[in-house]
Amino acid sequence: MAANGEAESGADEFWIFGYGSLIWKPPPHYDRRVPGWVTGYVRRFWQASQDHRGTPSEPGRVVTLIERPFWASLADAHDTAPDKVWGTAYRIVPEKVREVKEYLDIREINGYSIHYTAFHSSSSSIIPRTLVYIGTPDNDQFTGPQDPQQLAEHIYVSEGPSGLNRDYLLSLEKALDELSPESGDAHVTDLSDRVREIERKQREGDLLVEGFEHDPVAHEFRKVTSVDEQEETEKE
Ligand code: BEZ
Repeated sequence: MAANGEAESGADEFWIFGYGSLIWKPPPHYDRRVPGWVTGYVRRFWQASQDHRGTPSEPGRVVTLIERPFWASLADAHDTAPDKVWGTAYRIVPEKVREVKEYLDIREINGYSIHYTAFHSSSSSIIPRTLVYIGTPDNDQFTGPQDPQQLAEHIYVSEGPSGLNRDYLLSLEKALDELSPESGDAHVTDLSDRVREIERKQREGDLLVEGFEHDPVAHEFRKVTSVDEQEETEKE
């Protein structure tokens, strides 16, 4: 740690903050992985996913970050959110920074835009500038507030090339739980509880969830080896 309390991250270092699948599926070309949080945002399953956890005709739902003042202006059934959005910061190895930056500069990923924000590590150091993907409200795939039960049912039935939408949700809940004793997110936990309850009822024959019967979606299982393959790292 530097004398001013900041992490020893040189101005030329390049860090990415993951708050979704990047937590458990790291990007390529990183050499440091640090758990911690950012502030000023709220994590919500309000981004439609046509190419990872859904299809163009039946999009799934993945997380995005909403700027907190904007979120506060909306009617959200989940009406509280932690001040800290927990996730993981990754430092990209110096020799790959140019490659990663060029890639990030020329394309936005699945409706996500690029923001930069300060990251606080769980050991109290600060990385002043980490890149974060945000699905802003003006992108076509931003859904806005969702009824939690309908959202859980939607996640339960959705599937895309990266796998079942509910596996993404439950993996996120688990990955968050593993970051720190205080890194849980009630929005994620409530949706996970609802999905587990739907699963239980479905298993016991108590419930028929409409939309469950859809054509099988081929899953892509491949190792991420280069920036070109990165695309949310979900296809790994
Ligand atoms: C993530 O933090 O995992 C992530 C969020 C949006 C797009 C890509 C990755």
